[in-house]
Amino acid sequence: MSTDGLGLMLVTRIGPLRAAIAQFRRQGKSVGLVPTMGALHAGHLSLIDAARDQCDVTVATIFVNPTQFGPGEDLGRYPRSLDADLAALEQRGVDLCFAPADDAMYRPGHAMFVDVGPLADQYEGTCRPGHFRGVATIVLKLLHLVPADVALFGRKDYQQWLVIRQMVRDFDMDVRIEACPIVREPDGLAMSSRNAYLSEAERRRARSLSESLELAARLVAAGQREAEGIRRAVVNHVQRIGHVRPQYVAIVREGTMTPVTTIDGPTVVALAARFGTTRLIDNGRIDGLGPTTDLAR
Ligand code: PAJ
Repeated sequence: MSTDGLGLMLVTRIGPLRAAIAQFRRQGKSVGLVPTMGALHAGHLSLIDAARDQCDVTVATIFVNPTQFGPGEDLGRYPRSLDADLAALEQRGVDLCFAPADDAMYRPGHAMFVDVGPLADQYEGTCRPGHFRGVATIVLKLLHLVPADVALFGRKDYQQWLVIRQMVRDFDMDVRIEACPIVREPDGLAMSSRNAYLSEAERRRARSLSESLELAARLVAAGQREAEGIRRAVVNHVQRIGHVRPQYVAIVREGTMTPVTTIDGPTVVALAARFGTTRLIDNGRIDGLGPTTDLAR
């Protein structure tokens, strides 16, 4: 382990992590934290770049957090590519990567979890019971271990970002939470570690998600303001092109999970659908104020 600021430092245990962070702090360096579950892609790396732009030191974490996976979900097959991830982080100028073993984060007897409240009772929360409880708990732990100035999350996981923002506010945590734009494949599919599960045919059908969000943006730009009509158009598009029925299509006020009936300001369409055994989520803004940033290609 070196702390000379040259190259990537890999840390797998809590003691050395605290020591390294304390040293950064003593040196008066600002710290940006990017939590991930690895299998890194350009979406993750965009968060790294944003952290590096803002902070003296960039810390990434790689941990496939078991408590945010429900029974029957994909914990067992979640892609793991630590060597390639570390090479990408080093190349991107990350200073420290914390990649703990499961038993380093959840020691025998671990009993406490964050009670997320109403945000966990909607949309992703009801499709994946216990998911946000696991997410909030691990992010709370990571933010305690790495007292960062800024922690960066992707808008790809829009509801997750809201959960974390709420937790930081409610628990008076002294960290700025920043949300970064969704990074997409050339055909619009939001980048996700789970895209690797898709067969060729599923991959083609998965385009229907981002297409349906573009359709929603076009409808709003053309003057449609009634959320229910837009919701139906999104559902129909995913059914027609994706051959699946979305698990939900949420049309909510930007920065909340509160459904709107009329689109009269910044609004987010968020949806989830399952292609074969692969569950994908996506979202985009439809504020009717011109081309949307997330979906413009
Ligand atoms: P993971 O899915 O690995 O994502 C790590 C971070 O990358 C999250 O903030 C996510 O929103 C962001 N991200 C993923 N795909 C993106 C894309 N296409 N464009 C922009 N950002 C993207 O989210 C998690 O891990 C976990 O729940 C975690 C927060 C690490 C807690 O375990």
